[in-house]
Amino acid sequence: LLVDKGNHRHFMAKEIYEQPEVIAHTFGHYLDLTRETVTLPDLPFDLAEIDHISITACGTALFAGSIAEYWFERFARLPVSTDIASEFRYRDTPLGKNGITIVISQSGETADTLASLRYARECGQKTVAVVNVPTSTIAREADMVLPTLAGPEIGVASTKAFTCQLATLACLAVHTGRVRGVLSEDDEHRLVRAMMEVPRLMTEALKLSPEIEALARTLSKARDVLYLGRGTNYPLALEGALKLKEISYIHAEGYAAGELKHGPIALIDETMPVVVIAPFDRIFEKTVSNMEEVAARGGRIILVTDQRGADLAHVEAMQKLILPEMPATVTPMVYALPVQLIAYHTAVLMGTDVDQPRNLAKSVTVE
Ligand code: G6P
Repeated sequence: LLVDKGNHRHFMAKEIYEQPEVIAHTFGHYLDLTRETVTLPDLPFDLAEIDHISITACGTALFAGSIAEYWFERFARLPVSTDIASEFRYRDTPLGKNGITIVISQSGETADTLASLRYARECGQKTVAVVNVPTSTIAREADMVLPTLAGPEIGVASTKAFTCQLATLACLAVHTGRVRGVLSEDDEHRLVRAMMEVPRLMTEALKLSPEIEALARTLSKARDVLYLGRGTNYPLALEGALKLKEISYIHAEGYAAGELKHGPIALIDETMPVVVIAPFDRIFEKTVSNMEEVAARGGRIILVTDQRGADLAHVEAMQKLILPEMPATVTPMVYALPVQLIAYHTAVLMGTDVDQPRNLAKSVTVE
């Protein structure tokens, strides 16, 4: 496979910067841009008949699944359970005949994800695989494949595959909502228009890179970093923490902002940066109170938000990364980019092997 870094220092940087382009390809595959509709290939089951969705994956792909869970619930009013593939496969989860299982995998070869797919099929469920490698084992064995068109991903830490997984899952969730009569035609057009804006919004988000590079100096001195978010930005907080620990070896944890007072608040002092991923929304005020709790204990906040959020958050010791305003549905795709850049710039400063972090493998084909 011949892929080079172009003008970038690392594959990871190249892959972060490619995202506006590859997500446009992925959306181009699933959206009819003139009619503003989602166009999926024929499914081997009737979406109107299903009563449950199980989602399973590992690592970054799992967090894409956790974000999609919110979308399937909101757009299609379907109950969803998302679980780590290494748990799912051994839990003897009862899987009903009217449910489907969605597995998500960049490589399509992850052992636990493959075993989960096989388990779901043995239970008589139909399976959908969201995969980046179309020739992979998972792609071959699933009843239906929804490819992510991210192109080859070389950096061990997944970036562009993640946002393309989100794009694919968002299309599937909107389509499911339409088929089930939960979303109207107008809702679909509105959501499709929002998705069509993502490449441009991502290009804007990448312009934060110099600011993030400056901020990484503080982060590179931290021993622990906490990431907080609510709603779909909660799994993104988990992904942010995963990314930082994978490539910079700084301990990081992601938490639902509302859980702060149930534990992690005990850790907060002036040495602990807290990254808050919070576009302005109907529960933004709640996140502001969480930030006040952090600030009262001397914690330093890095708030990733938009202008309205920045104007409302009057909290001490805060640095703000400001993104354009955008519909809530697309925020996890766009906010993923500053989150990836935080990890990337911190790791570069620490001098780690960004593309090949110690002890990690791109594809985990053994248990
Ligand atoms: C490894 C990689 C991660 C990836 C995970 C799942 O841990 O280092 O970047 O998210 O496997 O891989 P998959 O290919 O199934 O998405």
